[in-house]
Amino acid sequence: LSFEVKDRAAAGRIGRLETRHGTVTTPTLLPVINPNLPTVPPADMKRLFGAEMVITNSYILRKSDALRERALREGVHKTIGWDGPVMTDSGTFQSYFYKKPIEVSPLEIVEFQKKIGVDVGTILDVFTTPEKTREEAVAELDETMRRAKEAVAAKNGMMLAATVQGGVHVDVREQAARAIGALDVDVVPIGGVVPLMEQARYADLARVILASKRHLPSGKPVHLFGAGHPLVFPLAAALGCDLFDSASYAKFAKDGRMILPNGTRSLDEVEELGCICPECDRWKNAAELRRAAPAERESALARHNLHVSFGEIRRIRQAIRDGALWELVEERAAQNPALLDALVALRGENEVTWLERLEPTSGARAFQYRGAHSMHRPGIRRLHNRLVERWRPRSKTCIVLPERPKPYAEGYAAYLDAFMRTGHDFVVDTPMGPIPLELERLYPVAQSVFPETLDADARLVREAYSARFFHHFDGCDVLPADLAEYEALAPELCSLTPDAFEQRRMASLADYQYGPGAAAGLLAGQVTFKRSPGTGGVRNVFADGVHVASLRARDGLLSLRIEGARRLVAALPSPRARIRLDDEPASFVRDGKNVMAKFVVAADSQLRPGDDAAVVDSKDAVVGVGRCQLSGWEMPQFQRGIGAKNTEHAKDD
Ligand code: GUN
Ligand code: ZN
Repeated sequence: LSFEVKDRAAAGRIGRLETRHGTVTTPTLLPVINPNLPTVPPADMKRLFGAEMVITNSYILRKSDALRERALREGVHKTIGWDGPVMTDSGTFQSYFYKKPIEVSPLEIVEFQKKIGVDVGTILDVFTTPEKTREEAVAELDETMRRAKEAVAAKNGMMLAATVQGGVHVDVREQAARAIGALDVDVVPIGGVVPLMEQARYADLARVILASKRHLPSGKPVHLFGAGHPLVFPLAAALGCDLFDSASYAKFAKDGRMILPNGTRSLDEVEELGCICPECDRWKNAAELRRAAPAERESALARHNLHVSFGEIRRIRQAIRDGALWELVEERAAQNPALLDALVALRGENEVTWLERLEPTSGARAFQYRGAHSMHRPGIRRLHNRLVERWRPRSKTCIVLPERPKPYAEGYAAYLDAFMRTGHDFVVDTPMGPIPLELERLYPVAQSVFPETLDADARLVREAYSARFFHHFDGCDVLPADLAEYEALAPELCSLTPDAFEQRRMASLADYQYGPGAAAGLLAGQVTFKRSPGTGGVRNVFADGVHVASLRARDGLLSLRIEGARRLVAALPSPRARIRLDDEPASFVRDGKNVMAKFVVAADSQLRPGDDAAVVDSKDAVVGVGRCQLSGWEMPQFQRGIGAKNTEHAKDD
């Protein structure tokens, strides 16, 4: 298998899919090439739009004598005029669309794809429509599975796509995903979803994608079959779809329609083109394009549609790199009510739990509030759950501080020393709810942008969390801060955050990141700091004189030093805070090499992309520190790529 993940955000990823005709960066869009009448020449697909891979139809190629002969003689690449990676579909869609079985056997169509040299061939799955009952969906899935197994046995070097079907029945989708995921297939499409997209049933679409993804191995690239409108790309990418295919650009152009990131418009309805793509730039206004010759108009619309579609793909990739994919999804949902329903479908306990398991620890950019869904993001759920489950009060008195400009500890700098001497707990009342003052720099608390006025939904989420958080102080006092009380104790502004506060910060951080017992292990002994000469902020954390951790300025989290990793391993039962390797791959890590995902024997299922973990050998000896690129639980599901980057290794230590 030749798929690896390079970067992540939400449940989405930047991947590299390797084929015999080149490597593709995902998420990407495969424009559909109609071998009979290409609206846009394949050569332009690469040059003008940046297409990296195309999809065409082996059933259509096989049906025409001329195309079949040529494809068999010269191969599919020459036949369609594209020398990059080619995927082919199988005729499933035609048999759905024309409501009759196609006149080729499932095995014959796989053999044909192999003979014409496609890079990724597709099985002839049974297209299960949304109207099908559960029993019908199960029966059709049985047939799809029979064909999938037959195709796997015949694939012989060709990369194979085997489709997850199951209609809208979540448990049948799950069963399909488990069964397909267990086969030796290279790409997993999610099929049968075209009617859902045509009817704008995006909540059902989201449920179907999630049910499938939840039970597929993370290491397989997932294709959303027939997803050609950019409207669904951000949501589908955020749920972990890697490949899309589009005939929409051509179909809409034929109907005189313009694709826009949030919908479509008929050219007849508009006076302004309202688009800045190079194609629209050629025309003064809509009327001028309407007056163009039909073939020229269709071609112009198809090109515009491709510009908009690939523009959205590039936006998604950058949003993944920025850690801002939820922002993009919410922006699009704000422009389309049916997409908003899809976001609501992602708020269930099961859904958020799965999304949280993939959500990176922090993003390159601040958490940006976008609307009523923002507080439902999995990163907020994690923050809330960890502060309820992992944070420990040190006193029986909680003082609630009003919000001040961030970072909060700076806003309260004059009081910190006095606060610490009271022995009380201090929390700040933030838009995300009560946050212990010492955790104020943690992503996304400090790195967030909220409006002054929160929407009702966000307030509900905050209230619900707040009630859970204050259980920490059941039977204790929770009091609003009377700062005058501390004035006497805090006569002067401290230029340095006091050590007592930093010690509290490190202890709370260690437990927040690695769970109960972590602080006691990592920070046992006398805790001291090395501070930045410029800002006075803590850089390095020492326990009994040993450098155990550093404070990351970017996200306010602890990064582990190797001695810190050793202390965690000694304090926490396996597999907590660990990535375990066999001894041979472990010896490479000891020498400074990265942790390759395929060598991971076991890893703490709580580790998230961005977390530091102790890398251990079979005897639980620490050989290095790895910064996770993948969640711990999914590492063993990858055959390619880096599971964790080596940040510290035992050899020179
Ligand atoms: N194209 C659009 N939907 C589907 C599907 O479910 N299966 C296949 N093979 N192709 C499709
Ligand atoms: Zn345009």
